[in-house]
Amino acid sequence: MKIKRYIFALPEEELPLFLERNKLSAQVLERKEGIVYFALYEPVKGLKPVRVEEVDTDWEKWRERFEPIELGSFVVLPPWKRPIFINPGMAFGTGLHPTTRLCARALERNLRAGMSVLDVGTGSGILAIISKLLGAGRVLGIDISEDAVRECKRNAELNRVDVECRLSDVRAVDESFDLVVANLEMRIFREVMGKLLGLVGEIGIFSGIYGENELNEFLHLLGGFEVLSVESQENWFCVVGRKKDEKLIV
Ligand SMILES: C[S@@+](CC[C@H](N)C(=O)[O-])C[C@H]1O[C@@H](n2cnc3c(N)ncnc32)[C@H](O)[C@@H]1O
Repeated sequence: MKIKRYIFALPEEELPLFLERNKLSAQVLERKEGIVYFALYEPVKGLKPVRVEEVDTDWEKWRERFEPIELGSFVVLPPWKRPIFINPGMAFGTGLHPTTRLCARALERNLRAGMSVLDVGTGSGILAIISKLLGAGRVLGIDISEDAVRECKRNAELNRVDVECRLSDVRAVDESFDLVVANLEMRIFREVMGKLLGLVGEIGIFSGIYGENELNEFLHLLGGFEVLSVESQENWFCVVGRKKDEKLIV
Protein backbone atom coordinates (compact mmCIF):
# COMPACT_ATOMS: atom_id res chain seq x y z
CA MET A 1 0.00 0.00 0.00
CA LYS A 2 1.20 3.52 -0.83
CA ILE A 3 0.85 6.43 1.55
CA LYS A 4 1.82 10.11 1.43
CA ARG A 5 4.99 11.23 3.13
CA TYR A 6 5.44 14.94 3.82
CA ILE A 7 9.01 16.28 3.97
CA PHE A 8 9.46 19.41 6.08
CA ALA A 9 12.45 21.58 6.93
CA LEU A 10 13.04 23.61 10.07
CA PRO A 11 16.01 25.26 11.77
CA GLU A 12 17.60 22.75 14.19
CA GLU A 13 16.67 24.73 17.31
CA GLU A 14 12.98 25.02 16.31
CA LEU A 15 12.34 21.30 15.71
CA PRO A 16 12.00 20.07 19.32
CA LEU A 17 9.51 22.81 20.19
CA PHE A 18 7.56 22.24 16.96
CA LEU A 19 7.24 18.50 17.66
CA GLU A 20 6.35 19.08 21.28
CA ARG A 21 3.71 21.71 20.42
CA ASN A 22 2.08 19.52 17.77
CA LYS A 23 2.48 16.26 19.75
CA LEU A 24 4.32 14.65 16.82
CA SER A 25 7.22 12.23 16.34
CA ALA A 26 9.24 12.83 13.21
CA GLN A 27 11.67 10.80 11.17
CA VAL A 28 14.79 12.93 10.74
CA LEU A 29 16.17 12.49 7.22
CA GLU A 30 19.05 14.92 6.97
CA ARG A 31 20.76 17.77 8.82
CA LYS A 32 22.37 20.42 6.58
CA GLU A 33 23.71 23.85 7.52
CA GLY A 34 21.57 24.15 10.64
CA ILE A 35 18.41 22.93 8.92
CA VAL A 36 16.75 19.62 9.78
CA TYR A 37 14.81 17.80 7.06
CA PHE A 38 12.23 15.45 8.52
CA ALA A 39 9.32 13.32 7.40
CA LEU A 40 5.79 13.07 8.74
CA TYR A 41 2.93 10.97 7.50
CA GLU A 42 0.34 13.72 7.81
CA PRO A 43 0.13 17.38 6.77
CA VAL A 44 0.72 20.03 9.43
CA LYS A 45 -1.32 23.20 9.72
CA GLY A 46 0.83 26.30 9.20
CA LEU A 47 3.95 24.53 7.88
CA LYS A 48 4.42 23.99 4.16
CA PRO A 49 6.17 20.76 3.17
CA VAL A 50 9.33 21.00 1.05
CA ARG A 51 7.90 18.11 -0.96
CA VAL A 52 5.29 15.35 -0.77
CA GLU A 53 6.08 11.83 -1.91
CA GLU A 54 4.31 8.49 -2.13
CA VAL A 55 5.97 5.67 -0.22
CA ASP A 56 5.28 2.04 0.58
CA THR A 57 4.10 1.35 4.10
CA ASP A 58 7.22 -0.51 5.11
CA TRP A 59 6.85 0.18 8.80
CA GLU A 60 9.69 -2.06 9.88
CA LYS A 61 12.23 -0.06 7.88
CA TRP A 62 10.66 3.19 9.01
CA ARG A 63 10.87 2.13 12.62
CA GLU A 64 14.53 1.15 12.26
CA ARG A 65 15.48 4.52 10.82
CA PHE A 66 13.70 6.57 13.45
CA GLU A 67 16.15 8.88 15.23
CA PRO A 68 15.89 9.94 18.88
CA ILE A 69 15.08 13.60 19.45
CA GLU A 70 17.02 15.70 21.95
CA LEU A 71 14.89 18.00 24.01
CA GLY A 72 17.09 19.99 26.39
CA SER A 73 18.53 17.41 28.76
CA PHE A 74 15.84 14.89 27.70
CA VAL A 75 15.87 12.42 24.82
CA VAL A 76 12.53 11.55 23.24
CA LEU A 77 12.28 7.91 22.19
CA PRO A 78 9.48 6.08 20.44
CA PRO A 79 8.12 3.11 22.40
CA TRP A 80 9.97 0.51 20.32
CA LYS A 81 13.39 1.95 21.31
CA ARG A 82 14.87 1.14 24.70
CA PRO A 83 17.22 3.41 26.62
CA ILE A 84 20.55 2.27 28.09
CA PHE A 85 22.53 4.56 30.35
CA ILE A 86 26.31 4.33 29.98
CA ASN A 87 28.53 6.63 31.96
CA PRO A 88 31.25 7.95 29.61
CA GLY A 89 34.01 6.62 31.86
CA MET A 90 37.37 4.87 31.56
CA ALA A 91 36.12 1.59 30.07
CA PHE A 92 35.63 0.56 26.43
CA GLY A 93 31.99 0.19 25.43
CA THR A 94 30.05 3.37 24.78
CA GLY A 95 28.18 1.66 21.96
CA LEU A 96 29.86 3.66 19.20
CA HIS A 97 32.36 1.03 18.07
CA PRO A 98 31.22 -1.32 15.26
CA THR A 99 32.28 -4.39 17.26
CA THR A 100 29.98 -3.46 20.15
CA ARG A 101 27.12 -2.74 17.74
CA LEU A 102 27.56 -6.07 15.98
CA CYS A 103 27.51 -7.92 19.32
CA ALA A 104 24.40 -6.04 20.47
CA ARG A 105 22.60 -7.02 17.28
CA ALA A 106 23.72 -10.63 17.60
CA LEU A 107 22.44 -10.68 21.20
CA GLU A 108 19.02 -9.43 20.05
CA ARG A 109 18.87 -12.24 17.49
CA ASN A 110 20.21 -15.13 19.53
CA LEU A 111 19.48 -14.59 23.20
CA ARG A 112 16.40 -16.39 24.52
CA ALA A 113 14.76 -15.39 27.79
CA GLY A 114 16.22 -17.12 30.81
CA MET A 115 19.59 -17.99 29.22
CA SER A 116 22.66 -17.58 31.42
CA VAL A 117 25.19 -15.19 29.85
CA LEU A 118 28.92 -14.64 30.28
CA ASP A 119 30.26 -11.36 28.87
CA VAL A 120 34.01 -11.76 28.43
CA GLY A 121 35.83 -8.42 28.46
CA THR A 122 32.78 -6.57 29.66
CA GLY A 123 34.35 -3.06 29.60
CA SER A 124 31.57 -0.62 30.47
CA GLY A 125 29.23 -3.60 30.93
CA ILE A 126 27.17 -2.58 27.92
CA LEU A 127 26.69 -6.08 26.48
CA ALA A 128 26.00 -7.60 29.90
CA ILE A 129 23.37 -4.91 30.52
CA ILE A 130 21.78 -5.46 27.09
CA SER A 131 21.67 -9.20 27.81
CA LYS A 132 19.81 -8.60 31.04
CA LEU A 133 17.42 -6.15 29.38
CA LEU A 134 16.73 -8.81 26.73
CA GLY A 135 15.58 -11.18 29.45
CA ALA A 136 18.68 -13.22 30.27
CA GLY A 137 18.76 -15.13 33.55
CA ARG A 138 22.10 -14.95 35.34
CA VAL A 139 24.55 -12.50 33.72
CA LEU A 140 28.24 -12.36 34.62
CA GLY A 141 30.56 -9.72 33.12
CA ILE A 142 34.30 -10.27 33.59
CA ASP A 143 37.27 -8.09 32.79
CA ILE A 144 40.97 -7.94 33.65
CA SER A 145 40.75 -4.15 34.12
CA GLU A 146 39.75 -2.74 37.51
CA ASP A 147 38.43 0.40 35.82
CA ALA A 148 36.15 -1.74 33.66
CA VAL A 149 34.76 -3.67 36.63
CA ARG A 150 34.03 -0.42 38.46
CA GLU A 151 32.28 1.05 35.39
CA CYS A 152 30.36 -2.18 34.80
CA LYS A 153 28.98 -2.05 38.37
CA ARG A 154 28.16 1.62 38.07
CA ASN A 155 26.37 1.17 34.73
CA ALA A 156 24.45 -1.88 35.94
CA GLU A 157 23.18 0.24 38.83
CA LEU A 158 22.31 3.12 36.50
CA ASN A 159 20.20 0.73 34.42
CA ARG A 160 18.78 -1.01 37.49
CA VAL A 161 19.71 -4.47 36.29
CA ASP A 162 21.17 -7.36 38.20
CA VAL A 163 24.53 -7.98 36.52
CA GLU A 164 27.51 -9.47 38.34
CA CYS A 165 30.74 -7.64 37.40
CA ARG A 166 33.89 -9.50 38.34
CA LEU A 167 37.63 -8.85 38.04
CA SER A 168 38.79 -11.99 36.28
CA ASP A 169 40.72 -13.27 33.32
CA VAL A 170 38.67 -15.55 31.07
CA ARG A 171 41.17 -18.33 31.82
CA ALA A 172 40.10 -18.28 35.48
CA VAL A 173 36.38 -18.94 34.82
CA ASP A 174 35.38 -22.49 35.67
CA GLU A 175 31.67 -22.78 34.79
CA SER A 176 29.83 -22.77 31.50
CA PHE A 177 27.06 -20.43 30.33
CA ASP A 178 24.25 -20.91 27.79
CA LEU A 179 25.52 -17.91 25.85
CA VAL A 180 29.01 -16.40 25.85
CA VAL A 181 29.65 -13.04 24.24
CA ALA A 182 33.27 -11.97 23.75
CA ASN A 183 34.24 -8.72 22.07
CA LEU A 184 38.01 -9.02 22.28
CA GLU A 185 40.85 -8.91 19.71
CA MET A 186 42.42 -11.56 17.52
CA ARG A 187 45.62 -11.38 19.60
CA ILE A 188 43.60 -12.37 22.69
CA PHE A 189 41.47 -14.98 20.88
CA ARG A 190 44.70 -16.73 19.84
CA GLU A 191 45.71 -16.99 23.51
CA VAL A 192 42.40 -17.97 25.11
CA MET A 193 40.34 -19.68 22.41
CA GLY A 194 40.53 -23.20 23.82
CA LYS A 195 39.40 -22.05 27.26
CA LEU A 196 36.78 -19.66 25.85
CA LEU A 197 35.07 -22.29 23.70
CA GLY A 198 34.94 -24.64 26.68
CA LEU A 199 32.77 -22.08 28.53
CA VAL A 200 30.10 -21.99 25.80
CA GLY A 201 27.04 -24.08 26.66
CA GLU A 202 25.18 -23.37 23.42
CA ILE A 203 25.79 -20.04 21.65
CA GLY A 204 29.00 -18.04 21.25
CA ILE A 205 29.09 -14.47 19.94
CA PHE A 206 32.60 -13.36 19.04
CA SER A 207 33.71 -9.96 17.80
CA GLY A 208 36.80 -7.79 17.51
CA ILE A 209 37.93 -9.69 14.41
CA TYR A 210 39.37 -7.29 11.82
CA GLY A 211 39.64 -8.00 8.12
CA GLU A 212 39.24 -11.19 6.11
CA ASN A 213 42.57 -12.71 7.13
CA GLU A 214 41.64 -12.55 10.81
CA LEU A 215 38.16 -13.83 9.99
CA ASN A 216 39.57 -16.91 8.23
CA GLU A 217 41.96 -17.54 11.09
CA PHE A 218 39.11 -17.15 13.61
CA LEU A 219 36.81 -19.54 11.73
CA HIS A 220 39.62 -22.08 11.73
CA LEU A 221 40.00 -21.71 15.53
CA LEU A 222 36.23 -22.11 15.94
CA GLY A 223 36.63 -25.64 14.61
CA GLY A 224 33.86 -27.80 16.05
CA PHE A 225 31.22 -25.04 16.18
CA GLU A 226 28.41 -24.63 13.67
CA VAL A 227 28.64 -21.09 12.25
CA LEU A 228 25.19 -19.46 12.50
CA SER A 229 26.11 -16.04 11.11
CA VAL A 230 28.98 -13.77 10.13
CA GLU A 231 28.17 -10.06 10.05
CA SER A 232 30.45 -7.14 9.34
CA GLN A 233 30.64 -3.39 9.72
CA GLU A 234 33.58 -1.25 8.57
CA ASN A 235 35.67 -4.40 8.05
CA TRP A 236 35.05 -5.61 11.63
CA PHE A 237 33.48 -9.07 11.84
CA CYS A 238 31.18 -10.71 14.35
CA VAL A 239 30.76 -14.48 14.29
CA VAL A 240 27.91 -16.34 15.95
CA GLY A 241 28.49 -20.04 16.51
CA ARG A 242 26.56 -22.88 18.07
CA LYS A 243 28.24 -25.68 19.92
CA LYS A 244 27.59 -28.93 18.10
CA ASP A 245 25.59 -31.33 20.23
CA GLU A 246 28.11 -34.12 20.80
CA LYS A 247 25.28 -36.57 21.57
CA LEU A 248 24.05 -36.10 17.99
CA ILE A 249 27.44 -36.72 16.35
CA VAL A 250 27.82 -40.39 15.36
C1 LIG B 1 37.03 -4.28 23.10
S1 LIG B 1 36.71 -4.21 24.82
C2 LIG B 1 35.00 -4.71 24.85
C3 LIG B 1 34.13 -3.90 25.79
C4 LIG B 1 32.62 -4.18 25.68
N1 LIG B 1 32.33 -5.57 25.97
C5 LIG B 1 32.08 -3.82 24.31
O1 LIG B 1 31.67 -4.71 23.56
O2 LIG B 1 32.01 -2.63 23.98
C6 LIG B 1 37.60 -5.64 25.40
C7 LIG B 1 37.73 -5.78 26.90
O3 LIG B 1 38.31 -7.07 27.17
C8 LIG B 1 39.12 -6.98 28.31
N2 LIG B 1 40.05 -8.16 28.28
C9 LIG B 1 41.18 -8.30 27.55
N3 LIG B 1 41.74 -9.51 27.77
C10 LIG B 1 40.93 -10.17 28.64
C11 LIG B 1 40.97 -11.47 29.25
N4 LIG B 1 41.96 -12.32 29.01
N5 LIG B 1 39.96 -11.82 30.11
C12 LIG B 1 38.95 -10.95 30.36
N6 LIG B 1 38.86 -9.71 29.82
C13 LIG B 1 39.83 -9.31 28.97
C14 LIG B 1 39.77 -5.61 28.17
O4 LIG B 1 40.22 -5.13 29.42
C15 LIG B 1 38.64 -4.77 27.58
O5 LIG B 1 37.90 -4.10 28.59
